[in-house]
Formats: sequence, structure tokens, C-alpha cells
Amino acid sequence: MTTTAERPATTSTRTWEHHHVLDLDDFTRDEIEEVLGLAERMREVLDRRIARVPALRGHTVVNLFYENSTRTRASFELAGKVLGADVISLSASTSSVQKGESLIDTVRTLRAMGADVIVMRHSSAGAAYLAASHTEASIVNAGDGAHAHPTQALLDLYTMRKHFGDLRGKRVVMVGDISHSRVARSDMWGLSAMGAEVVVCGPPTLLPRGLRVEDRPAHAEAALPLVRVEADIERALEGAHVVMALRLQSERQQGGLLPSLHEYAAHYQVTAARLARAHPDHLLMHPGPKNEGVEIAGDVATGSHSIIEEQVTNGVAVRMALLYLLAGMGGRPAPAPMESMR
Ligand code: NCD
Repeated sequence: MTTTAERPATTSTRTWEHHHVLDLDDFTRDEIEEVLGLAERMREVLDRRIARVPALRGHTVVNLFYENSTRTRASFELAGKVLGADVISLSASTSSVQKGESLIDTVRTLRAMGADVIVMRHSSAGAAYLAASHTEASIVNAGDGAHAHPTQALLDLYTMRKHFGDLRGKRVVMVGDISHSRVARSDMWGLSAMGAEVVVCGPPTLLPRGLRVEDRPAHAEAALPLVRVEADIERALEGAHVVMALRLQSERQQGGLLPSLHEYAAHYQVTAARLARAHPDHLLMHPGPKNEGVEIAGDVATGSHSIIEEQVTNGVAVRMALLYLLAGMGGRPAPAPMESMR
């Protein structure tokens, strides 16, 4: 007899084939749409008086965080719990874990205990990829060094789409430490796939060189999304539909990239005066954590254009969608269809 829990998902449009979520560079527009569409249904679950459905009962999600986190970790924990999964959260100090055997051993150990999905954050770029190649569990990259943060990008896309409907032709300007921002990198892939126009802005020392088309070696053309690079913030913000401020990732910076915080704020802080150049209905976003008075002015962060808290709420729905989609992968029993989750 087939139990509800073993029944395959019946969402007829399901095209999902990812066993892991490591970055958005291998996501098509349709795949992103599938996540965002499912996230919309997860939002409905979150809006219920009792936000609990048994879709992932019997599934185990492990949060394995080698780096600090507030929202991403809490968001995944909540997402798993709302869907009825068993959720375990582990922290490891960065000093006790190095890339290599110990990471692989940890992941294998968690799988041996029945982890279906391991959500991983690590200070080394590539750590999630390494883990993914050594386990049957699905790995979700919750941030690997300065490289990628695909679930943040998906929640950003979801939040923008909720306001605009279609992102084609929308100008999204990311301001700040682009070089060290995994959020910027994943957002660039996702936004490009969705047809948005991407502008990145920051001091020349915090802008990755390979992004400018003229700087690219010929073989890199297909490996990088097309973005406009702009060091002048006033020019960058012109006509922006979305402005995303990014934190200075001082934990990843070498010394000498900025003369001083004061100077950085004077030239690159997202302020109300500067936002006057953006589209009158622009949205103001920030992945958090913010440093008000540095990359963003306090009044702007809480002002009428700010949708920063919406990003956080939507993050839970997007992560629910991802956990749900991953649950049926790798020969694991597919979760019960969402239609049955009243
Ligand atoms: C970001 C991160 O960890 O990369 N935060 C987040 O996940 N919301 C951005 C940051 O740390 O500045």
C-alpha cells in the first residue's frame, strides 16, 4: 500500500532535478520560477493561524554552521519545522575545522545518522561542493566564503518578483563590497537568469576585476553573468528599480582596501539624498546584517522604500520550498503533495 508520505509529488509542472543547491549558476529561469512558485504556496502556509504541515514528516534536516549566522540559520530551522521535518542545528567554531577530512567526516557522520538534507555554511569557498561530492545527503549551500549564497539570492528574487511581477528589464543596483560578497555573486546569476539588468557599484578596490566585459579573458565570457560595473554611486543609482546595500565583509578583506570607514561611508553609503536619483518607486533591500551609518543610512533602512524585513519573512518560505523540492531527490521518498496539506 502506498502511504501518503510515499506518494510522489503531483505538482504537474515539477521539473526540479537538483540533488544539491550549491549556487544559481546552474539554474535556468524555469527552475528558478519553480522554486518561486512553490515558495508562494509556502507563504500561504506561513500565513495560517497554525503554520504547521506534515509534508516532511520523517525527513531530517541538519544545519551545519561553521560561520556565524542569525537569519539564515533561524530561517532554515523554522522552514524545516513548519514542514514537520526533524531539524538539528550544529555550530562549529571556524578554528576547529579545516577544509578536508574533518569536514568530509562530519558530513558522512551526519548522513549515517539519517540526515536527508545538510544545510551548510563555511568560511571556505567550495566547502559545500566538497561536502556534496562525499555524501548521499542533499547539500544546501548557506554561504561558502565569498563565493555563493544561493538561498539568499532566491529569497531576493522572490521578494522583488512579489513587487514587480516580472523582473525583465528591471534595474537592480548592488552597492558595497562586491568583491567579497557571496550574496552579490549569487544574485548576479539569479537576476541575469530572470532578465533583470544588474549594476554593481563600489570602490574600485572592492569590485572584482573579471566582471567588466573588457577585462575578461575570452574563455571567461560564458562563466560570468553580464553586469554593468560602476564606481560612481550617483551614476549607478540613476533610474534604479531596486537598490541593494551590502555590508563590508571585513572578515574576508585584506587590509588596505579602504582608506577608512568614514571615507567609505562618505562616498558609498546609501542615503536618502542619493536615492533621489533612483526610480520614484524603488525598493530598498539589504541581506543583513546591516551596519547602519556605514553602508546604509538609518533613516533609509527603516524608511518607506525599505523591504528588508519582508526579505527575512520571505526567506522562510523560499527555504521551505527548497527543502520540499530536495526531499524527493536521490531515491528518497517524495513528500506528500502540497495540495493535500490543508
Ligand atoms: C549574508 C551572508 O552571510 O553572506 N547574510 C545573510 O546570510 N543574510 C551577508 C553578510 O554577511 O553581509
